[in-house]
Amino acid sequence: MSSINKRAQQIMAEIISNKKVGAYHHITLSVGEIAQLIRPGNFVAIAVGGADSRMVLRRAFAIYKASMDPLDGGIVELVVAPHGSGSTWLCNAPLHSKIDMILPLGKAFGIPVEPVNALLVGGGYGSAPLFGLAEALKAKQCNVDMVLGASTASKIYAPQEGKRSTNSMIFTTDDGSLGIEGMVSSVIPELIEKNKIEIIYSCGPMAMLEAVTKISVEFGLQHQCAVEESMACGIGVCMTCVLPVRGEDGVARMLRTCIDGPVMEGSDILWNTGRTVPSEVWGA
Ligand SMILES: Cc1cc2nc3c(=O)[nH]c(=O)nc-3n(C[C@H](O)[C@H](O)[C@H](O)COP(=O)(O)OP(=O)(O)OC[C@H]3O[C@@H](n4cnc5c(N)ncnc54)[C@H](O)[C@@H]3O)c2cc1C
Ligand code: FES
Repeated sequence: MSSINKRAQQIMAEIISNKKVGAYHHITLSVGEIAQLIRPGNFVAIAVGGADSRMVLRRAFAIYKASMDPLDGGIVELVVAPHGSGSTWLCNAPLHSKIDMILPLGKAFGIPVEPVNALLVGGGYGSAPLFGLAEALKAKQCNVDMVLGASTASKIYAPQEGKRSTNSMIFTTDDGSLGIEGMVSSVIPELIEKNKIEIIYSCGPMAMLEAVTKISVEFGLQHQCAVEESMACGIGVCMTCVLPVRGEDGVARMLRTCIDGPVMEGSDILWNTGRTVPSEVWGA
């Protein structure tokens, strides 16, 4: 039986930096020693709107980076798109305000024991957890290629320092304002062949993850994707985030992506089921 990340704690974290970068806000929070327990792929669940807020549901955000800073102690960095009322409140939160957050949540990306050729694919703010992952893979002497896509240039989050963690970086935009015009999926097959890719990691919109899964299946590659199914509690209680996923026994079950994910093997997911429970799912 799956359960919440055993390392998770609810804390009040102070915002120590909040900068607008393109279409996003890069927010740094002081979180203390718990930063050491965070792995690439983990996420946070944040209470938004302040103490009297009517926004009762926490909002989930991937952890872009976690580190121990010599001056600030344990810090967590987030990349937030001002989307609706909750994320906009967070983007507007003033310096030194205290944020109620639960972290670290969810399953992290698996890091190979031996060096491999890895391809990291991100869509929009989905690039956020991939830079910490790239650093972890580099520490294992992996070759790391990255493809980042978005609708337009301002929605690609690719910090300069992040580029140092990769061997190559390709951008795609729907409108051609940066890099290659088109979707990330259009450049992946050639990269797989050229760079002898052995594993794919991805994070971004569900349609992109489905497209990457199709390619990974075609090439017979493992594909660890961090899904971003809508979440309401983030801690395994509400069942908002369920997806049909096939287990090792071949049986499909509705799994809670906040505790069984967000990182999952792409080919295990029954994609594009339109938020219904497919008839082949156990108990349907
Ligand atoms: C694992 C994960 C990682 C993410 N990482 C990032 C990130 O790094 N950066 C980023 O900008 N965004 C990220 N998101 C998306 C982010 O969580 C949403 O943009 C945010 O919740 C929007 O909140 P809002 O109040 O601004 O938007 P609104 O659309 O106003 O509100 C969203 C609210 O509706 C609730 N909700 C949505 N669907 C349902 C449903 N079917 N049933 C019940 N309640 C529902 C949500 O729980 C949330 O409380 C991530 C999401 C997930 C699941
Ligand atoms: S978000 Fe509530 S169970 Fe996953």
